[in-house]
Amino acid sequence: MVEDVDRPTPDDDEVLVKVRAASVNPVDTYFREGSYAPGGLPWIPGSDAAGVVTAVGDDVTEYDPGDRVVATALGNDRPGTCAEYVAVPTDRLARLPDRVGFAAAAAGALVGVTAWQSLVARCDLDPGERVLVHGGSGGVGHVAVQVAAAAGARVTTTARPAYHDDLADLGADDVLDYGRDDLADAIRETGQPDVILDHRLDDYLGLDCEVAAFRGRIAAIGNSDPEATFPNVPAHRGKALTVNHVSMFNTPDVARVLGRLAALLERGSLVPQVARTYDLAGVKDAQQAVLDDSFLGKLVVEP
Ligand SMILES: NC(=O)c1ccc[n+]([C@@H]2O[C@H](COP(=O)([O-])OP(=O)(O)OC[C@H]3O[C@@H](n4cnc5c(N)ncnc54)[C@H](OP(=O)(O)O)[C@@H]3O)[C@@H](O)[C@H]2O)c1
Repeated sequence: MVEDVDRPTPDDDEVLVKVRAASVNPVDTYFREGSYAPGGLPWIPGSDAAGVVTAVGDDVTEYDPGDRVVATALGNDRPGTCAEYVAVPTDRLARLPDRVGFAAAAAGALVGVTAWQSLVARCDLDPGERVLVHGGSGGVGHVAVQVAAAAGARVTTTARPAYHDDLADLGADDVLDYGRDDLADAIRETGQPDVILDHRLDDYLGLDCEVAAFRGRIAAIGNSDPEATFPNVPAHRGKALTVNHVSMFNTPDVARVLGRLAALLERGSLVPQVARTYDLAGVKDAQQAVLDDSFLGKLVVEP
């Protein structure tokens, strides 16, 4: 439902952003369903925004009206970004380079912070290591492929065949059909991954353990079954694997990570894919599509 509400007033440490693009993430649907409790109703969905600063709070010195910015980690403990204006604390904000479009920036924000937090911050990805990204066509997946490639890793990813060529263009060295029966063997043939980004722990923790290199690190970002675990714990122990559970909402330094992502966007090392755009009235359809449809990259809302 689209409603007129008062334009927010930024607090002392916030800026007011005229939203030019927001993006849709699965977590928006979890908030809507109540499985992640939002702050109360009425609630404005949307975690990511790219746009232009129109006002700044009294304590803000690093931004001015007219600055192009990208923000994320909104829509959870505070109002979201599927709106014409959103107030953003400066610790969830970064400057957006002139050559980067608003839609691409919004598309890459939450998923980019998730990929960075998973691969770089929590799994200490080193140049030259091997990375496995499950579900490379997804919002997180297609950005993780690019972040890993930009970090100098050798990247294997999985996706349905329709997206294999695109993922190779985005930097994947090997792209495998996640539906194949011999997936574990096929991954091992590309080399044992040092770091694995797993968005479906229920399906893949056992496979992760089979294919991982000794002392491999797993970034665990998603599961359906709250009790998802390794089917063979001794095998996990024998390989000395580390599981890093990642939630982008508790990333300690969102602004710094967004700044790094903006640098990758500026030099073309990160090109978030915008599959479709919607207006504000289409947010409901976009949220349903993020659950039901197959597409490469992200769905974006342009208010
Ligand atoms: N922990 C965190 O901080 C965090 C942050 C962001 C997202 N997440 C979670 O991570 C998950 C992915 O998020 P997203 O934004 O990337 O979602 P998304 O854009 O909907 O992508 C999901 C991807 O999974 C693929 N997929 C479907 N079945 C698969 C299978 N059996 N094996 C491998 N891949 C399969 C889909 O491909 P098809 O087109 O073939 O269906 C799609 O590319 C969600 O559960 C989300 O809630 C967690």
